[in-house]
Amino acid sequence: MEDQAQELREMMSNGHKTRIIAITSGKGGVGKSNLSVNMAIAYAQQGKKVILIDGDLGMANVNVLMNIVPQYNLMQVIQKQKTMQEIITDTEFGIKFIAGANGFSRIANLNVEELDYFAKQFSMLGNADIIIIDTGAGIANNVLSFVAAADEVYVVTTPEPTAITDAYGIIKIITTELVDRETNIKLLVNRVHSADEGKRISERIINIVAQFLNKKVDYIGFVYDDPVVQASVIRQKPFIIVNPTSKPAQCVKHIVGRIEKSDDGTSEGVSSFLKKFLGKK
Ligand SMILES: Nc1ncnc2c1ncn2[C@@H]1O[C@H](COP(=O)(O)OP(=O)(O)O)[C@@H](O)[C@H]1O
Ligand SMILES: [Mg+2]
Repeated sequence: MEDQAQELREMMSNGHKTRIIAITSGKGGVGKSNLSVNMAIAYAQQGKKVILIDGDLGMANVNVLMNIVPQYNLMQVIQKQKTMQEIITDTEFGIKFIAGANGFSRIANLNVEELDYFAKQFSMLGNADIIIIDTGAGIANNVLSFVAAADEVYVVTTPEPTAITDAYGIIKIITTELVDRETNIKLLVNRVHSADEGKRISERIINIVAQFLNKKVDYIGFVYDDPVVQASVIRQKPFIIVNPTSKPAQCVKHIVGRIEKSDDGTSEGVSSFLKKFLGKK
């Protein structure tokens, strides 16, 4: 505990700011959880301190993909029963994992003292280099709060017309509902059969978003459709670990490299994240 407080103070004095990324989509089943897990591990393999939060409260399955059974979740911190340190699960893949909680939206109703406890505990996450949040699909309130609070939002789609339409839909909601915030949105096309296909699909979405929403969205990359993904889900071991040279693993590493390069140092860190999450701005 004391060590961690010390570590935190050092980080703060270095001007260290944790980068916070939300992975979301319009349509479900497009690969958010698989990409979140494998991107998180790819980051850790570069020597970064990574925390992965399962924010998909309805269909939590990040833990299943890594074959871990978290004992606690954020709810116990919200209820002051546990410290943040106690609910963080270490994984064999070099990343730390936090299970979300269905009552997470309940923090909106906490009293001042409870909120203070939660905020203090939450600030412990500030010693990570990067926090990746796997959100649910669509426009549920808790999805939007994560999206609104994160520094950057990665919208995942596949080449399926329904996924493309829903990707546009979620981008529209983000830009129209969260007008007071300049949300940095990036597109990730999963399950493509060629680099060209990824580019073509991203361009289609980017153009429609520019035309109808007057919003600039960037393309961050694609991941090939490949049976190793399904095989790794069945084995409950991330593909970047079991098949590090597979096409999807190489794509994920490439994407992480691009995300790293796009770090413009404007992250506002965990305390700002929490403020925005609570809707205070
Ligand atoms: N790149 C891919 N290649 C092949 N299958 C994939 C790929 N990405 C995802 N899948 C399949 O889609 C399923 C759903 O992925 P998942 O990450 O759980 O989606 P989400 O979190 O968006 O609901 C996976 O179990 C896998 O079978
Ligand atoms: Mg998921």
